[in-house]
Amino acid sequence: MAAKGRIPQSFIDELLSRVDIVDVINRRVALKKTGKNYSARCPFHDEKTPSFSVNPDKQFYYCFGCGAGGNAIGFIMDYDRQDFPGAVDNLSSLAGLEVPREEISPQQQIKQERRKTIYDLMEKVASYYQQQLREHPQAQRAVDYLKQRGLSGRIARDFDIGFAPPGWDNLLKTLGDSEEHRQQLIDGGMLIEKDDGKLYDRFRDRIMFPIRDNRGRVIAFGGRVLGDDKPKYLNSPETDIFHKGKELYGLYQARQNNRHLEQLLVVEGYMDVVALAQHGIMTGIATLGTASNTEHLRTAFRYASELIFCFDGDAAGRKAAERALENALPTMEDGRRIRFLFLPEGDDPDSVVNRDGAAGFQKLLAQAQPLERYFFESFHSQTDPSTLEGKARLSKLALPMLQLLPPGVFRQLMLDSLAERTGLSRHALDQLIDDIPAASDTDSAPQIAQATPNPRNSTKKLAANLPSSSRDPLLFALAMVLFNPRGATNQSLTLSTDDTSPAAALLSAILELLNKRPGSSTAMLLGHWYGQAEYDIMIEALKTIALLGPELDDEKAQLAFLDTLGHLDNLKSRQRISQQVEQLRSSHHLDKPASDNYAGLSDEAKQQLLAIQQLLNHKHQR
Ligand code: UTP
Ligand code: MN
Repeated sequence: MAAKGRIPQSFIDELLSRVDIVDVINRRVALKKTGKNYSARCPFHDEKTPSFSVNPDKQFYYCFGCGAGGNAIGFIMDYDRQDFPGAVDNLSSLAGLEVPREEISPQQQIKQERRKTIYDLMEKVASYYQQQLREHPQAQRAVDYLKQRGLSGRIARDFDIGFAPPGWDNLLKTLGDSEEHRQQLIDGGMLIEKDDGKLYDRFRDRIMFPIRDNRGRVIAFGGRVLGDDKPKYLNSPETDIFHKGKELYGLYQARQNNRHLEQLLVVEGYMDVVALAQHGIMTGIATLGTASNTEHLRTAFRYASELIFCFDGDAAGRKAAERALENALPTMEDGRRIRFLFLPEGDDPDSVVNRDGAAGFQKLLAQAQPLERYFFESFHSQTDPSTLEGKARLSKLALPMLQLLPPGVFRQLMLDSLAERTGLSRHALDQLIDDIPAASDTDSAPQIAQATPNPRNSTKKLAANLPSSSRDPLLFALAMVLFNPRGATNQSLTLSTDDTSPAAALLSAILELLNKRPGSSTAMLLGHWYGQAEYDIMIEALKTIALLGPELDDEKAQLAFLDTLGHLDNLKSRQRISQQVEQLRSSHHLDKPASDNYAGLSDEAKQQLLAIQQLLNHKHQR
């Protein structure tokens, strides 16, 4: 089939302004009017009380429970499981519009095809390895290995386990039959190119575990040696289609097995997932050679409301649990549950289930401690709550962590519990927690409400309504411009910062787009970045908007945006000044640290510095 041309952006913009997201969603999920917004039980995760809301003014939806969000097109894509053109077709016929297509150049066409075919090719790679597990002359070694690990042919098939035979060019010869295919195999991480341009197979003589994304597409592989060689596991490198920090091995299979998962078990390895499945426990998921991060957990929480982490009982397991706790706290929206299971030393889920069976493993699982218990017990070794000093220390250690919790009943209960344990009043704790800078602010950016040069009261008040985790100035600025894009148009605004984070890049890109397309709405901006990495940041910003609820209006958003942009600008200037101070110091052979300001500077240096500052101040008078 010939590739269809791109749908012009102007048409998408028009479409979004013609349809009403409330109408679109209400046809699929019954919405209830709650104040200015509409709400429902979220269609993307199981929940008993509604945390899904639709904003008719700004034409977006957001779910506090699972973090899903977007515009009308995104909703159709996720709800009806359609691709982008399909969702646009669907909405267009609703609005009585014909979808126009742009002519595309042959180069564009090739690029479009390439992305599509790389998934096809990865699927072929997986089939090839499976076939080798059945047919290769040395396949028996691999089959014996799998049997010895307790796996049946059935489970090997369910997880599409395969065998990469020994040798340097098996895959290369079989699937690298054209220049284009070879390039795709390189892009997919399956072939390695030597300095002299020669190619060879990345995976050799290994048991192969295909890694599937959420939609079931093969995006990468993990390969285990059959013996004790090192490295034990080899994983695909990061590619265009594989991002380790996001993917969870086993999640696709768990969802295939049960669309209404209540619980997922977060384990360490491929073999743990597969061994659990072998014993009928189809809920194991594993991160891929990296520690679990917040994004992994948010993903998992989209499909189940309870996560149980399984850790080894040794020191490394304890350490991993501490990290997991920190990552988990920001994801603990109400209605979610996390438990921690510590296995006996030397065990992993694979060894437990193979020795003690499913029943034995379930028995351990029943003993997993809820996050709240693990949280407070983890401080026991460092604090003695029977002494005053110990109580003070406990609050000092616990508060910055509790501050990571999103607002809600769980957070309140945890603070109550801390109050009880320390004997401090809730009022005192609330004040203490408000004084802690948000975690995301610690590197360079102090809280908006405190640090904006002369923030308008309205901005201060707005920001104060947010949990501190949402007060990161960049995210706040993004939220404000996303809420009221027209408030930032026609002003030739740019972001002046040395920050190279994705959020800063996105804010710059939004400002650039608004200069080019002054009429863009919230839903149009969302549409513009749909499916790209930036989209996740936009959804975070939607959350900020949703949290502010009726507090926010267009005018406040515009003022707050300009304020915050000014604040970011000011931060940059201050950084620049301290750099200048540093430079001046070294050119005058002064070895005092920059933090004690001008002390130790010669008169001449002070003069230069004053001049710099005046210049900067002048620039910032608005
Ligand atoms: P483990 O070393 O705990 O192995 O690695 P395991 O899961 O118990 O494996 P078996 O039972 O010996 O087969 C846990 C996970 O860490 C990553 C893999 O994702 C593995 O599943 N890992 C481990 C690597 O990426 N490379 C390695 O060399 C080892
Ligand atoms: Mn193991």
